[in-house]
Formats: sequence, C-alpha cells, structure tokens
Amino acid sequence: MTLIVTGAAGFIGSCVVRQLVAETDELVVSVDALTYAGNPLSLGDAQASPKHRFEHADIRDQPRMQAIFEQYQPRAILHLAAESHVDRSIHGPAEFVSTNVVGTLTLLQVALDYWRGLPEPRRSQFRFQHISTDEVFGSLSATDPAFEETTAYQPNSPYSASKAGSDHLVRAWHHTYGLPTLMTNCSNNYGPYHFPEKLIPLMILNALDGKPLPVYGDGQNVRDWLYVEDHARALRLVLEKGRPGETYNVGGAAERKNIEVVDTLCNILDELHPQSGPHHRLITYVTDRPGHDRRYAINFTKLESELGWRPQENFETGLRKTVQWYLDNPEWVQSVRSGEYRNWLEMNYAGRTQAA
Ligand code: NAD
Ligand code: DAU
Repeated sequence: MTLIVTGAAGFIGSCVVRQLVAETDELVVSVDALTYAGNPLSLGDAQASPKHRFEHADIRDQPRMQAIFEQYQPRAILHLAAESHVDRSIHGPAEFVSTNVVGTLTLLQVALDYWRGLPEPRRSQFRFQHISTDEVFGSLSATDPAFEETTAYQPNSPYSASKAGSDHLVRAWHHTYGLPTLMTNCSNNYGPYHFPEKLIPLMILNALDGKPLPVYGDGQNVRDWLYVEDHARALRLVLEKGRPGETYNVGGAAERKNIEVVDTLCNILDELHPQSGPHHRLITYVTDRPGHDRRYAINFTKLESELGWRPQENFETGLRKTVQWYLDNPEWVQSVRSGEYRNWLEMNYAGRTQAA
C-alpha cells in the first residue's frame, strides 16, 4: 500500500511523513517542488527509510504527476503543497493562484484519470485528501460563534482566496465526477520545523538574536493554535475513517491574542535562554498587515463526535517544546536562513513603521 504526500518537505507535510514512516508499514512517496519553504532536512529520519521515496516535482507539472501516479499506484493522496504565507500573498498573489488553484486543478485531473482506471475494490477505497485552512471562512468578531463546516466562505486575503478556490474545485470534483475526496480546514499550526516567516518561529529566532519582535497592529488579533503533531494525527484519522465528500474542521481549542502568544514566548525564553534576555524589551508594535483578519476560532465537534479526535497537546506545553526544539536544532535553522529569507525579511519589515 502506498500513499502520496504533496508539500512533504514543508512544515505540516513533513510532520505527516515522519509520523507515517515511523508508525506504519506503508510506502510513503513525498512530492515537493522544494520552494523556499521546502527543506528535505525536515523529513528527518524518514529520508533514509526504505519505506520512503522523495520525488522532486511541481504539482503543476501534469505529465510528471501522471508518471508518479502510474509508477506508485497510490491508495490515496494527501495534498498539502501550497504557497502558505499570508504576507507573501499580499506582496505576490500570482504564485498563490498558480500553485494553490491551478496546481490543485492539475492534481485533481491526474487523480481523476487514475481513479477511473482502478479496478474494484481499489477504486472505491481510493481517497483524494485536500488540506485546507480556517482562513477561507473570513474573520470573526470577539463574540461570534466559531467556524463550523457549514460556515459560508468569506476569504479576505489573496492566500485565503486561493485556498478557497482550491476547496471549491475539490468539492466540485466530488459532486460532478464522484472522485472520493476528503477535506479538512485547520487552524494555525505551530511546532518543530516551522519556517521562520510565521509568527511563532519568527519571534523565537528574533528573540534569540536580540532583534525586535514585530507585533502587527494592536496585537489583539486572535488565532486558534494547534500543535502540528496533533494536526498530522487528525489528517491520518480522517484519511482512514472520514466519509468521502465530507469536510472536517480541525482546531486546537487554544484561542490566544497575538500579544499573549509573544508574551508567553518571552517568558519561556527568559527561562530557557536567559543569556539573550530579558526578552519582553524587544516587543515592538509595527504597521498592521493590510486586511488583517481579527479572529479565527474553530468548532471541531464533528471531528470529535464522528471520529473521536481531540488535540493531545496543550498550548503552553507545546510552546515550550517548540522553543526547546529551536534551541536544540541550530543546523536546521541555519539551513533555512538563506539569502532569499533575508530578502523576505527586508521586503516585509523594512517599510513598517514602529508604533509610538
Ligand atoms: P509550508 O509553506 O511550510 O510548506 C508548503 C510546501 O509545499 C513546501 O515544502 C513547498 O516546497 C511545497 N510546494 C509549494 N509549491 C509547490 C508546488 N507548486 N509543487 C510542489 N510542492 C510545492 O506550508 P505548511 O504550513 O506546511 O502548510 C501545508 C498545507 O496546510 C497548506 O496547504 C496550507 O494551506 C495548509 N494549512 C496550513 C496551516 C498552518 O498553520 N501552517 C493551517 C491550516 C492549513
Ligand atoms: O489559520 C490557518 C493559517 O495560519 C494557515 O492557513 C496559514 O498557512 C498560516 O500561515 C497561518 O496564517 P496566519 O496569517 O494566521 O499566520 P502568521 O504566523 O503569519 O500570523 C499569525 C498572527 O500573527 C497574525 O494575526 C499576524 C500576526 N503576525 C505575524 C507575523 C509574521 C505579527 O503580529 N507579526 C509578524 O511578524
């Protein structure tokens, strides 16, 4: 039995692959274009396992994707490849539409052709699992109820609009062609191997370097945080037990204001790495993200009641483990701090003025 995982060298995809290789006997085929966000080192021990293959390929390359399906004859594909950073989507939206919408379309077509040619029972057992985000539902006020699977889509950023586009394609491929799809919409992940353009790893590395901790706007925006290993477990459960055509929300039951997250990080760093502290002095309020969604919150009752999933990690212990991982893994950190990364920091932060 074989699984294909796209975006496997990224933050969440690599966690899924590491878990699958460590805990199952299946062959796992990692597909990744190795953009700035992809790093084969993130695959850890899975890289050298006989149960793992790596295919350096772009999901928009239809002949290549067809060849990969033909060669490996997968029982399912978990599709995580995407451009994933909201701020980058504001600076350059075209790449987001290209990978997230056109790339997903390409994969759906390839998977559909492959699925139609499968004999039973492999045909009815095949799954196309699409990994999406809570951001497609838009922004909540402080008192709004959390997003449910039936909440109307209201994407606000080029990133979330492109993810919404891909979600709609997946839905249509199930409805029109009968492709056995599964979809999950998850809240903010955090944990090891997180690329340091995102809030938590950026703050950890800046703090260790004694650099400013740039909090957008008033710091009161709320996100729901889920430890990445819990997300990977949810994805594996949905793959095995989810009903084709259904979508499942995944969340961490850990809503926090951004400033609370940064505060907690500073406290943990003061304890684990006092030599770069005290860290709170580095907190700097800067110009807000354009169109910044105020609050996300996830209702994951469906996943809990139908499939029995709950997050196992709590936010404070998960955050502590995450900080410790960054302290223990300077080689990985060094490997992602390329010239491209430094250029991005310059582009995203140099123009932001410091609030009084
Ligand atoms: P990431 O940016 O860390 O990794 C994305 C991976 O996709 C990288 O390895 C990159 O090289 C690869 N990739 C990009 N374009 C590609 C292409 N054209 N062909 C092949 N590979 C390509 O992203 P992530 O945080 O791991 O997110 C994975 C998925 O989960 C995304 O679809 C994202 O929208 C979704 N998601 C992320 C979060 C989160 O908090 N990070 C939350 C909910 C959903
Ligand atoms: O909700 C799920 C989404 O979470 C995923 O779909 C995205 O792929 C993922 O990137 C993430 O999106 P966010 O925009 O919420 O994550 P980010 O880490 O970029 O920002 C988290 C919050 O922190 C957000 O309110 C913006 C704020 N922020 C971010 C950065 C990078 C800052 O205040 N300062 C910063 O420097």
